[in-house]
Amino acid sequence: MSFSDIDLSTTFLGKKIGAPLMISSMTGGYSEASTLNQRLAEAAEQFQIPLGVGSMRQALENTSHRESFAIVRKYAPSIQIFANIGAPEIAKGLTDTELNIMLELLEADGLIVHLNPAQELFQPEGNTDFNNVLEQLAIITAKIPVPVLVKEVGCGISASAALRLMEAGVKVIDVAGAGGISWQKVEEVRYTRQFGQETRFSTPALEELLNWGIPTAKCLFDITSLKKEHPEYSAIEIVASGGIQSGIDIAKSLALGAQLAASAGYMLKALHEGTLEKTLETWLNDLKAVMFLTGTASIEQLRHKSLIPKP
Ligand SMILES: Cc1cc2nc3c(=O)[nH]c(=O)nc-3n(C[C@H](O)[C@H](O)[C@H](O)COP(=O)(O)O)c2cc1C
Repeated sequence: MSFSDIDLSTTFLGKKIGAPLMISSMTGGYSEASTLNQRLAEAAEQFQIPLGVGSMRQALENTSHRESFAIVRKYAPSIQIFANIGAPEIAKGLTDTELNIMLELLEADGLIVHLNPAQELFQPEGNTDFNNVLEQLAIITAKIPVPVLVKEVGCGISASAALRLMEAGVKVIDVAGAGGISWQKVEEVRYTRQFGQETRFSTPALEELLNWGIPTAKCLFDITSLKKEHPEYSAIEIVASGGIQSGIDIAKSLALGAQLAASAGYMLKALHEGTLEKTLETWLNDLKAVMFLTGTASIEQLRHKSLIPKP
């Protein structure tokens, strides 16, 4: 094959995308978020890759917080954009009006629900009531006109949890596993600053709780195996996220069964350093390098490559 034959395009939820990469949910709500979301939208549009916005809770609570979300569709007219809300909000039961506001603000292609029990646990004002999440998810998946995607925020999703989500009608599982941004650590720093206290947990427990979670690669392996055992869920797509930091990570994710990979923290860092487009270009070039070296001209072919463990 020739390097120039390599085609990175693939599909996500049935739509063609430029490359198997997504910019994960991060921000919205406050005024500076408009600039950040505009920049993320412009880059995603340029590379024709999907984009998730941050939690839209504030936009539901206050109309002045809606502009930073609406701006995304303005600068990314042709890509898939995903709305985002937390499981604790879902558990309380969202009204039809609230669901419509989120979807219409973005002309959204889907609704991402994030599961973040460890983050809420470490948050001083965290909401730790996750009762009814599954029941409410099943109601929403049956009700809204676009697919529902579920993600973690850095602790991963186990195969048994994934199965219950699939049974509730969820179309995409984004594992957001351990290995990247840790929200327990972020919230622990915030707690210490706010209350001047070291921690609420015992020293030996804290270490383990801060690092709680299933590594991204294990989530991918386990959920891919689960899909093989349950052919009725073969169409459910898996997103690999949590610590993705190169095109080689994207290639490994696909070989482990993901439809695409997604990144948040690294993208934000690149945005702050003024290297967002350059980073995306470099990652996609890394991916092409792996495809060339494994003799795969298309993403579909790469998905069927088996991984060879390091000796
Ligand atoms: C600044 C920032 C804000 C985030 N806000 C949200 C959010 O509102 N909703 C959400 O689902 N995930 C949120 N996340 C989690 C990411 O989408 C992602 O799941 C997590 O950071 C792991 O990916 P990473 O290791 O590539 O950062 C946020 C992450 C960052 C870095």
